[in-house]
Amino acid sequence: MKLLKEKIISEGIAVNENILKVDGFINHLVDPILMAKIGEEFGTHFANQGITKIVTVESSGIAPALMTAYTMGLPMIILKKEPSKALNQNLYQTVVTSYTKGTSYELTMSQNYISQDDHVLIIDDFLANGETATGAIRLIRKAHATIAGLGVLIEKSFQPGREKLDQQGVHVHALARISKLAENVIEFIPDENE
Ligand code: G4P
Repeated sequence: MKLLKEKIISEGIAVNENILKVDGFINHLVDPILMAKIGEEFGTHFANQGITKIVTVESSGIAPALMTAYTMGLPMIILKKEPSKALNQNLYQTVVTSYTKGTSYELTMSQNYISQDDHVLIIDDFLANGETATGAIRLIRKAHATIAGLGVLIEKSFQPGREKLDQQGVHVHALARISKLAENVIEFIPDENE
């Protein structure tokens, strides 16, 4: 997606070989116009597939997932990392360990909001090692719902997330695929239409 790549080049900061800071338009300060366009892009790509719900993981996935849900006229489920006390029964849970952040958490979803009749699109900001997405897939499959695919804003293609998702038979649509990061260097894999 040309607009997202331009934004990454102009406002993203390649901290080192592994980490791209996008705090100024995705993770901290959020650009709503960009998010609306991202929602349209995912809505077009995943149109006419019988999708019933959008699923995302708190927190940075929420903005693009909500705009995708709005575009597609569907409800959105936010998977929780720290379930509130009010959310204490009828839960699907799975432990996720993030290599990027060096943390573990119990990804949680209420059984009330998903069923075997759902066909789900997962939306998130980054695909790095793919542990978050794999955790979301485990939860959705516990509910016997099916998965239409994973839409991510930024795929770090030099990390194993994409391969992990391919192995699980999950279609990935990434709006910007980064082939290389280094201090002040950001290189992309060209889009198919470029
Ligand atoms: P993992 O297996 O290493 O955990 O990779 P995964 O793709 O699951 O990403 C884990 C978390 O690290 C995600 O945040 C993701 O957004 C973040 N992340 C991965 N690579 C980068 C990067 O290059 N830059 C930035 N800024 N973040 C990155 P999360 O746990 O879902 O938390 P949140 O930020 O959504 O709250």
